[in-house]
Amino acid sequence: MPSANSLVIRRLGPDEWEQVRAFRLLALKAAPGSFFVSHAETAEKPPSYWTNMLGDEEAALFGLFDGDCLVALTAAFVDRDDPSGGTAFLGMSFVLPSHRGRGLARRLFKARLDWARARGLRRAVVYSRASNLSSRGAIECQGFVLTDEVDHVWPDGERDKDLKYELALDVQVAVKPPFTPF
Ligand SMILES: CC(C)(COP(=O)(O)OP(=O)(O)OC[C@H]1O[C@@H](n2cnc3c(N)ncnc32)[C@H](O)[C@@H]1OP(=O)(O)O)[C@@H](O)C(=O)NCCC(=O)NCCS
Repeated sequence: MPSANSLVIRRLGPDEWEQVRAFRLLALKAAPGSFFVSHAETAEKPPSYWTNMLGDEEAALFGLFDGDCLVALTAAFVDRDDPSGGTAFLGMSFVLPSHRGRGLARRLFKARLDWARARGLRRAVVYSRASNLSSRGAIECQGFVLTDEVDHVWPDGERDKDLKYELALDVQVAVKPPFTPF
């Protein structure tokens, strides 16, 4: 396994829609209880759904590559639920199991928060299933604050809390340093 620094993260474009679709469907199949949407409904989407999302100026999808191999996907969107247009909605994160537990979630957050700050967005929101401890760990070490929780039935059919986290982008939050073993 190469170090996290030898992996490259970059924004993905519309011409890469087939790779993004395949990776997203893999994620939804592997972790059906982690996302809001199901594999079945996403598999039905036409090619234009993917090319539009990847070409949308108000969205940014990032791929983390180990050589030529896409090993993680993540996304940020200008949140349409905030009429002021000042909020980034973060989602779609998936790291291949072979690459988990090595702090790569930090890279996924940095790419998205840099994008949001460069757009002048003032706030980021992200949601996590309460029992998804790796997701919560990744979110909380970025300084996100828990602001709401609601009951939710997830695509795997189970009921669990959906936690809402928020981060103000106009203040620099001290990101918890990664754990370094002796
Ligand atoms: C969630 C996910 C993207 C996180 O990536 P990861 O590679 O597993 O996590 P990282 O190794 O980067 O760890 C992120 C942080 O969370 C912490 N963490 C990881 N697993 C944890 C666990 N089970 N309990 C508590 N904290 C945990 C780590 O200590 C790390 O903090 P640090 O950087 O301060 O050490 C990944 O597990 C994944 O793809 N899961 C399946 C899909 C999913 O749940 N997506 C999120 C939907 S909201």
